[in-house]
Amino acid sequence: MKIIDTIDSYSSFKNGIPKGEKIGLIPTMGSLHAGHASLIRQAQKECEYIVVSIFVNPIQFNNSEDFENYPSNLKDDISFLESLNVSLLFNPSEEIVYPNGTKTKNYDLDDLENKLEGSLRPGHFQGVATVVDRLFDLIEPDRAYFGLKDFQQVQVIKKLASIRGKSPEIIACRIIREDTGLAMSSRNSRLNTKQKKAAASIFRSLKFAEKEIRTFPVPPDALRREMKAIINSSRELRVEKILFAFSKNLELITDPDSPLDHYNENVQCFISAYAGEVRLIDNYCIS
Ligand code: PAF
Repeated sequence: MKIIDTIDSYSSFKNGIPKGEKIGLIPTMGSLHAGHASLIRQAQKECEYIVVSIFVNPIQFNNSEDFENYPSNLKDDISFLESLNVSLLFNPSEEIVYPNGTKTKNYDLDDLENKLEGSLRPGHFQGVATVVDRLFDLIEPDRAYFGLKDFQQVQVIKKLASIRGKSPEIIACRIIREDTGLAMSSRNSRLNTKQKKAAASIFRSLKFAEKEIRTFPVPPDALRREMKAIINSSRELRVEKILFAFSKNLELITDPDSPLDHYNENVQCFISAYAGEVRLIDNYCIS
C-alpha cells in the first residue's frame, strides 16, 4: 500500500492509473473498524483502485473537547488497511486540505444541515461538506463510499454531489453492527467494557420501536418515553434525543396525536445518547 500526504505524489499515483479504471474513495477520520472494512470491500467489488483518506477534520466538530479526544491510531490503521489490500492511504496535513486556512464554506444544502443532528451540532454538516468537497477535488474519485450510520451525512453528501454536478457517484452502505447490535463507530474505542455492554440497549430500543408500531398504533411521545426507559435503564447511558422523521426528506414528525404507523412513508428513528463523555448515534427505519 502506498501512503502519501502530498498533492504531487497523489498526482503521480493517479497518472499511473490506466484509462477506464475506477478509483473508489473511502473518506475517514481514522480509528478504523469493521464498518470501514465493509465500505472498503464494497468499493473493491466496484473499483480497481481503492483510496482511503484519513483526516480528522477540525471544522466538523462543534465541540473542541470532542475534537481533542477523537481517537487516533495511525499505526493500527495502516496495518488494518494493508490487511485489506487497499491501494493507497491519503493522509494529508491540515495545510494540504485547507491551504487558505480552516474556513467552513456555506453550501446550499436545502436546509438539511439544520435538521435533526444538525440542530444539535451547529456547523457540523457544513464542515463535513467543506472537507468532502475538498477531498473530492484532490482525489477525483469515480465513486465515494459512506456508511448509513451517519444517515443524515449521506443525504448531505448526496446534495453536495448534486451541487458539484460531476463525479463521484455516492454509494451509501448499510450499517455494520457488533453482535450485540451496537453500531460500529470509531468512538466505540473510547467506551469501557460496562459502557459498551450498556450501549447495546440503543439498538434494542430501535428494534422495540419497530415491533411496537408493527403491532399497534403508538403516538410518538409514548414510544419515545418507552425507548428512553430502555436506554436509560442502564446507569451508563443518558439519552440526548430520540427523533422520528421521514426517511426520504428528514422532515421531523411533530404531530403528537398521529400514531407512527399512520404515515404512508418510511419513518426513520434517530437516537443520540451519551456513555460518559462519548456521544453515540444510531438510526433505523422502524416502519
Ligand atoms: O464520517 C466521517 O468519518 C467524516 O464525517 C468524513 C465523511 C470522513 C468527513 O470528515
